[in-house]
Amino acid sequence: MIVWTVANQKGGVGKTTTAVALAGLLAEQGKRVLCIDTDPHASLTYYFGIDSEELESSAFDVFSAGKNITAELMRRSILPTEFNNLSVMPATMALATLDRKLGTQDGMGLVLKRGLAMIADDFDYVLIDVPPVLGVLMVNALACCRRVLIPVQTE
Ligand SMILES: Nc1ncnc2c1ncn2[C@@H]1O[C@H](COP(=O)(O)OP(=O)(O)O)[C@@H](O)[C@H]1O
Ligand SMILES: [Mg+2]
Repeated sequence: MIVWTVANQKGGVGKTTTAVALAGLLAEQGKRVLCIDTDPHASLTYYFGIDSEELESSAFDVFSAGKNITAELMRRSILPTEFNNLSVMPATMALATLDRKLGTQDGMGLVLKRGLAMIADDFDYVLIDVPPVLGVLMVNALACCRRVLIPVQTE
């Protein structure tokens, strides 16, 4: 499992577009791809036509589990898309409350790393879309990836 994070503290620079485009290209090549949306705005989630208000389980549940994360909870929070080889862990608005609720709890920066290690055989590539905020969500995404892609606007 190869994990790439798309991050930049600036909004509107093409993070979500980059994550979705790369995921599509990799899936087309036959790689098993997981997109993780950690942005409370849930734009990546909406890209795939998923209504983030109607979810039984999402990235929020994964982060809320903290140290008690399990493979079962990871898999329950991942949805198939209409595209072959391409799955999504959707975001919900509730993610915006995580920093206040859990940000200072011990081990909160490594929840996603632990969770992905538990399902390492399920996917070839993981692409993580991150909100433009240096908080617990970005820390998680940076702590578990091999590469960070930083889209910038050429202005
Ligand atoms: N390479 C690009 N060239 C022109 N417009 C782009 C490009 N990438 C993204 N956009 C547009 O810029 C806007 C912001 O992109 P988005 O991926 O949502 O940014 P972010 O996730 O960083 O907030 C969207 O309207 C998107 O369609
Ligand atoms: Mg975005």
